Amino acid sequence: MALVVSSRKDSFVCCLLFIIVSEASAQYNTVFCDNNKGNHTVNSTYNNNLNTLLSTLSSHTEINYGFYNLSYGENEDKVNAIGLCRGDLKPDECRSCLNDARGNLTQRCPNQKEAIIYYDECLLRYSDRSIFGVMETSPDYVLFNIQNATNVGQFNQVLRNLMRMLTGIAASGDSRRKYAAASATATNIQAIYGLVQCTPDLSQPECKHCLIGAISEIPRCCNGKIGGRVLRPSCNIRYENYPFYDEPTAYAPAPSPSLSL
Ligand SMILES: *[C@@H]1O[C@H](CO)[C@@H](O)[C@H](O)[C@H]1NC(C)=O
Ligand SMILES: *[C@@H]1O[C@H](CO)[C@@H](O)[C@H](O)[C@H]1NC(C)=O
Ligand SMILES: *[C@@H]1O[C@H](CO)[C@@H](O)[C@H](O)[C@H]1NC(C)=O
Ligand SMILES: *[C@@H]1O[C@H](CO)[C@@H](O)[C@H](O)[C@H]1NC(C)=O
Ligand SMILES: *[C@@H]1O[C@H](CO)[C@@H](O)[C@H](O)[C@H]1NC(C)=O
Repeated sequence: MALVVSSRKDSFVCCLLFIIVSEASAQYNTVFCDNNKGNHTVNSTYNNNLNTLLSTLSSHTEINYGFYNLSYGENEDKVNAIGLCRGDLKPDECRSCLNDARGNLTQRCPNQKEAIIYYDECLLRYSDRSIFGVMETSPDYVLFNIQNATNVGQFNQVLRNLMRMLTGIAASGDSRRKYAAASATATNIQAIYGLVQCTPDLSQPECKHCLIGAISEIPRCCNGKIGGRVLRPSCNIRYENYPFYDEPTAYAPAPSPSLSL
């Protein structure tokens, strides 16, 4: 940091700063270790199955759509895991996020049979119970930008419309991807960039239900704030006053119209 402070316009320092910033943004948001759903111990069959499963996640290079739903083991020692990357991530970025998630999650939750970690760009969870195709809204986590919006009434209206539109697009996605991101503006407010996503194993109504629930938390968590997030196991939403997602590339038809209201 001292280097950066004493710097001139020098490309080495520029890139150092970039690295610091991008590392900082790779920290996880939160971890939940579930103490009520059973424990496992080092070298137990469950523990070995978990480690095997998580260490092979990134070898599934055939998965290029950002959703990992994998199991390993038998009967009560079977481990089910879900990894979900933000819809704009490239496959290698996704695997890299899930790898960080795996290391941090097993370190923070060494004994729990069920746990979840949320990053900006991915989530990873596992359990010994069946978690595929099941809509789950907790444990959830919210984040907000402390800055207040100006013209709160208009801001909320544009935000609500944007989120409603994105929900419709994401929910009608296929079994590999339920994601939508777009921006909206209006005369007296700054642009709002919004993103919504479900795990694609949900049905269309379940995805919609999960997202509508998450959006309904905004007035409680983030009312009038220029940025907010609601993170749930089965879906998540985020909005900011700056673009925080990449425009759609490779996979899937681009569900990203720019709205002008
Ligand atoms: C699991 O372990 C945690 C501490 O690591 C403990 O608080 C919890 O009560 C244990 N749960 C069960 C079901 O044994
Ligand atoms: C777990 O198994 C490894 C390899 O068999 C062994 O080296 C290690 O001591 C064991 N750890 C515990 C806590 O039992
Ligand atoms: C935890 O995640 C960070 C990135 O947020 C990564 O640099 C670090 O290696 C991870 N820790 C483990 C134990 O994997
Ligand atoms: C935002 O508005 C609230 C309520 O009007 C006020 O308490 C708070 O200090 C404001 N925050 C900022 C960062 O201006
Ligand atoms: C995993 O997800 C893929 C893509 O959505 C789906 O085709 C497959 O049936 C799922 N597998 C399980 C075990 O749920």
